[in-house]
Amino acid sequence: MFAATTTLGATKFVVAKTSTSTSSRARRSTPRVRAQSVQAPALNTTRSSEIFKAAQDILPGGVNSPVRAFKSVGGNPIVFERVKDAYAFDVDGNKYVDYVGSWGPAICGHANDRVNEKLKAQIDKGTSFGAPCELENALGEMVIERVPSVEMVRFCNSGTEACLSALRVMRAYTGRDMIIKFEGCYHGHADPFLVKAGSGVITLGLPDSPGVPAAATATTLCATYNNLDEVKALFAANPGKIAGVILEPVVGNSGFIAPDKEFLQGLRETCTKEGAVLCFDEVMTGFRIAKGCAQEYWGVTPDLTTMGKVIGGGMPVGAYGGKREIMDMVAPAGPMYQAGTLSGNPLAMVAGIETLKILGEPGQYEKLDKLTKRLIEGILKAGKDNGHAVCGGHISGMFGFFFTEGPVKNFADAAKSDTEKFGRWHRAMLEEGVYLAPSQYEAGFMSLAHTEADIDATIAAAQRAMARI
Ligand SMILES: Cc1ncc(COP(=O)(O)O)c(C=O)c1O
Repeated sequence: MFAATTTLGATKFVVAKTSTSTSSRARRSTPRVRAQSVQAPALNTTRSSEIFKAAQDILPGGVNSPVRAFKSVGGNPIVFERVKDAYAFDVDGNKYVDYVGSWGPAICGHANDRVNEKLKAQIDKGTSFGAPCELENALGEMVIERVPSVEMVRFCNSGTEACLSALRVMRAYTGRDMIIKFEGCYHGHADPFLVKAGSGVITLGLPDSPGVPAAATATTLCATYNNLDEVKALFAANPGKIAGVILEPVVGNSGFIAPDKEFLQGLRETCTKEGAVLCFDEVMTGFRIAKGCAQEYWGVTPDLTTMGKVIGGGMPVGAYGGKREIMDMVAPAGPMYQAGTLSGNPLAMVAGIETLKILGEPGQYEKLDKLTKRLIEGILKAGKDNGHAVCGGHISGMFGFFFTEGPVKNFADAAKSDTEKFGRWHRAMLEEGVYLAPSQYEAGFMSLAHTEADIDATIAAAQRAMARI
């Protein structure tokens, strides 16, 4: 047990779902939490609840990004005070082993000493230049050297920005408007990507959120992940009109879903044949799956790649890069406009450089893989030992599991999960001092700071939690 408060309490939270929709990221179910008299560790979250209550008057929904509000799992979010290495510490004095890692960036562990040292030194030299600096070259060269598809790179400030810019360059380069994305893949919150998939094979996009004009998504086509035939059918139905295909080369935004290698290879061949751009959204997988990102892991080279999270080492960052002839479209080299006041920010650059240096040292991805394999195998065993239908997997330091028999190959499979049970599991693990992503439809992240002892303790906690839910 990791929680600072270790006495056994008399209250167990049980999630009861109040909404039934499971058809999209935006519609994830909103459970509520009720109390039952079952023994469970006490978790004092008084101060967290007070702060969150106050935040609801100040910030929409009390948060600056929706999933943080715990709507999918019930209960109030935990308010963090500080993070260090593999751990998060909340405002009530509880300590958690953290498998969210700021949603991926904290791959070297939170507040890594080496990264922090570089950041502190940079602050004295200035936090923003708005002018060229050599650090941009240094990080750019590291990205180009490691990522097979990238010959030139443009830095920006978030994954959303990277993806919307990549979309623009796909269209500018091909002179075509339509794109294909996949149900359950998330590419940030730019209008053209906020599309829920329809039930048909060839489904024209409809906006997923009020405020997104139908025209903004009219050129977005949606297909089922791991289904190459659907993609081919979309190309056949729209000859010469599709600029490109964008996807997560390992899905993390419907929970963890691995692609079939043949699916990725088929997309590569189809895009080449159709004169369309293949874009891997590696905002999550970039430098997490492998030193050369998911494209190196799968041996499939896209034309364009988007990045974020890890390359900022915990600072706000995004990037897109690819073949020189495509990137030459971007202003001022070419006519496609894209800009940013804080782009190439020196703090983000130094944090990214040091993070990639650490990740470039021998054995780092093997370490992530070994720890993560043991963790996910332990969680799955705990589930099965206690009679739950579970399936899941991992690649390197990215993992996930679903409360369903599986296999899970796409979003529709993932949506068969028992999300009410996930809510109970999430709360039970919090009570055990383990911080997991507050949604069945999110991946988990390991860091280099996690220890074998953390994994042992988490697996033991998972056994107890699975027995309670
Ligand atoms: C695959 C993917 N693309 C894009 C984004 C958007 O990135 P950001 O939240 O930095 O805007 C995310 C965020 O989680 C992501 O996972």
